[in-house]
Amino acid sequence: MLPEPFKTSDNGTFGEFTATQRWPTIIQNAIDDMNTELQSQSGECKKQGEAIAAQLVELRDEVAGNAPLRPFTHRETEIAAVPSCFNEYLADSRHQGATWFNAGWLFTEVYMYRRMNVLFKTHPLWTQFDIFNRLKQSTFHSSLHGVVELALRYKNLRLQLDKLSTQHDDETLRILFKEFIDISLWGNATDLSLLTNATLEDIKSIQGAQARKNAESKIVIDDTAKAWDALLKARTTARVDFVLDNSGFELYADLMLAAFLIHSNLVKNCVFHGKDIPYMVSDTMRKDFSALLEDLEDTKFFPTDDQASREALDVFAQDIRKLVKDGQLEFRADPFWTTDLDYWNLDPSETKYHGAQLHSDLVKSNLVIFKGDLNYRKLTGDRKWPRTTPWAEAIGPLATNGITLLSLRTCKADVQVGLPEGLDEKLSHAWEKDHPGKGSWWTSSGKWAVICFHSSR
Ligand code: F6P
Ligand code: MG
Repeated sequence: MLPEPFKTSDNGTFGEFTATQRWPTIIQNAIDDMNTELQSQSGECKKQGEAIAAQLVELRDEVAGNAPLRPFTHRETEIAAVPSCFNEYLADSRHQGATWFNAGWLFTEVYMYRRMNVLFKTHPLWTQFDIFNRLKQSTFHSSLHGVVELALRYKNLRLQLDKLSTQHDDETLRILFKEFIDISLWGNATDLSLLTNATLEDIKSIQGAQARKNAESKIVIDDTAKAWDALLKARTTARVDFVLDNSGFELYADLMLAAFLIHSNLVKNCVFHGKDIPYMVSDTMRKDFSALLEDLEDTKFFPTDDQASREALDVFAQDIRKLVKDGQLEFRADPFWTTDLDYWNLDPSETKYHGAQLHSDLVKSNLVIFKGDLNYRKLTGDRKWPRTTPWAEAIGPLATNGITLLSLRTCKADVQVGLPEGLDEKLSHAWEKDHPGKGSWWTSSGKWAVICFHSSR
């Protein structure tokens, strides 16, 4: 028997806390941003925007008041192209009587972002508006320090990469691979749904090289070596996919990893999979990808103290633009990624919502990197597994259906698998000291991370 998925009603869990405390705040922040936006609007646009703001208030009250989860109306489904899986879930007899604080955590969280999106999609002058854009941009703006540090590192390395690969200096490349995997991993620590009140110092403290060094011991599972071996097997012709998570600093870190892989001739091309609607506050959409390159090149957005830093930012942005132009870096946004379906559905058996389609494409990749916490939750079905459950068991069909995968996750939720005997107890005990009654929340703190690989090939 499979364990149940986590519910928003599970007493004392981070999921329960998230639903009851964090979601109303996230919607309130969206209302505040909408009101700021409306100050510069007029006429019909302002009128429609005010209607959206009022409906956001209703949604906030619905959540805070633990209202029943209602199906999307026919009109909403049509106009906003809502996938029917949401209403199918709610119509299922197992989910009758679901309310915001008594339903599957994963489902309800994804449903909330869809409800928000529907408000914009049903107002013709606001269909493309990203309510989280202001926050995404301002946090990336605050990331100047970490952004410049990485750009300088990249620029210094860039010229040596060709040499390393023609000389087959695999030992050095392996060490660099580890470094760029860590950069991409800890890039996930900059998550706007958790960093709602972060200061510049907070952001600096999680983005630099020193921070990564300090955090090395916090990687409790590390399969980097296995991923390296998988890549070497397909050397030079390899394709690597990124199932992206957050825009801004994390996307920047992912682009660093992709550029490193391509320029060291380990990999031929990378495919980035983003989101088709604003999602989980900070997740990457196509326009965020374009905005990031423009931000890097914008001397007002990133004013630098010295010429070398400015050059480094320009070099990196130009490198990425060239990779895109040459077809070595591609961005896609399938609607599957913003449904509530977990990744056990990335399988030939899921024929309704693109699961089979994506599966048949992803098996062609030599490595599919799933970024971040939500992707880890979807890989494991967000179920209440014992924390020592083997990774291959928790990922279900993905253990055997031919996708070679790597999950890079800083831990920000209750679900956790793959730990050696005794480690959960040890870390829970340590976390309990400063967080009485909440020892098991070490897996939700963002302080620890896991790097989990699997291949059935
Ligand atoms: O728990 C915090 C949370 O909102 C989770 O619901 C979600 O899994 C995560 O943050 C988002 O984090 P990430 O951007 O790493 O997927
Ligand atoms: Mg995210």
